[in-house]
Amino acid sequence: MFVNVNFTNFNKAIILLTNNKNQMEVNNTERLTTIDHHISREESMHPTATGEFTSLLHDLALAIRIISREVRRAGINDILGLTSTSNIHGEKQQKLDQYANDIIKKAMSQGGHVCAFASEEDDEVTVVGKDRKSKYIILFDPLDGSSNISINVTIGTIFGVYRRIDLSPGQSCSISDVLQPGYKLITAGYALYGSSTLLVYSTGNGVHSFTYDPTIGEFLLNKQYIRVPKQGSWYSFNEGNYYLVDEKVRKYLDYIKTPSEDKKRPFTLRYIGTLIADLHRLLHYGGVYLYPGTTKNPNGKLRLIYEVNPLAFILEQAGGRATDGRRRILEIAPEDIHQRTPLFMGSPDDMDLLESFLK
Ligand code: AHG
Ligand code: MN
Ligand code: MN
Repeated sequence: MFVNVNFTNFNKAIILLTNNKNQMEVNNTERLTTIDHHISREESMHPTATGEFTSLLHDLALAIRIISREVRRAGINDILGLTSTSNIHGEKQQKLDQYANDIIKKAMSQGGHVCAFASEEDDEVTVVGKDRKSKYIILFDPLDGSSNISINVTIGTIFGVYRRIDLSPGQSCSISDVLQPGYKLITAGYALYGSSTLLVYSTGNGVHSFTYDPTIGEFLLNKQYIRVPKQGSWYSFNEGNYYLVDEKVRKYLDYIKTPSEDKKRPFTLRYIGTLIADLHRLLHYGGVYLYPGTTKNPNGKLRLIYEVNPLAFILEQAGGRATDGRRRILEIAPEDIHQRTPLFMGSPDDMDLLESFLK
């Protein structure tokens, strides 16, 4: 049988494929889908698409490529015995997370589409664009997992994008543009600098993952419509905090560690200490992640707008759930850019069990 595949049909075929909401490994044709192609395809599904969003995410992918290169070089610089104060170019060497912060802001300021940035590394919001073209607000944790940087363990970058609320002439963006609840995110994602560099993102149409091929400088699609397993007998929690958390949480922890006849328990503990890497394994293997409030820090440690919201958005898009113990994370109205929140997230069945203990 002959199939006449012209370019239009080919695109339709891909869109049909991607509309199937079941998680899929990509086929050989899709393996050649670059992140730029994918983003513009996602944007073209919106009737009012202008291409600006594609350009914005293109700039973000550039920043991630540069950060990835620098993360990979960090170890080599150490081996070569460079001082901690200057890099290979003789410039003052910055902490990697400060470097990543600067690169993201530089790369994403080029196109003029960003109105404001909020970053873990900056005390205040940075306003960069004032005209109507500057439609987007970017929130990010430039390098997540700082304590793992110097020991070669996976670190990452987390990002979320909001649309600016008020585009009236002469009006710039305000703090209310930055403090939008997570359900208003128009895209969120993360990069992981692990055994390879990965970029995972969602625009509200499923979760898709890309592997970076440094030899051609491209992110290539490797998984689309990722679904979190319904249940997984894994848990991630800083066990050192056991005696600092609420009794309900302790009872839950005791329960999942008690052997059961169906062999679903004890759960296996995995804790990388890089939130984004822990979320990434949860996305693929299922289970739960807990960072509750403690007696020392009643709101836990993780920051709502640039760490937790983007992850909650990704996880929900993959069929999982994220709460602060009482409320859906994405519905919390933020009050401060650096506000912290307790976090409980995971596979739907595991969250049912966990929530039955938190009641
Ligand atoms: P960051 O490196 O961006 O400051 O974030 C660190 C966070 C998060 O990545 C990680 O999961 C958590 O800190 C670990 O905290 P504990 O060491 O308290 O477990
Ligand atoms: Mn972080
Ligand atoms: Mn960080």
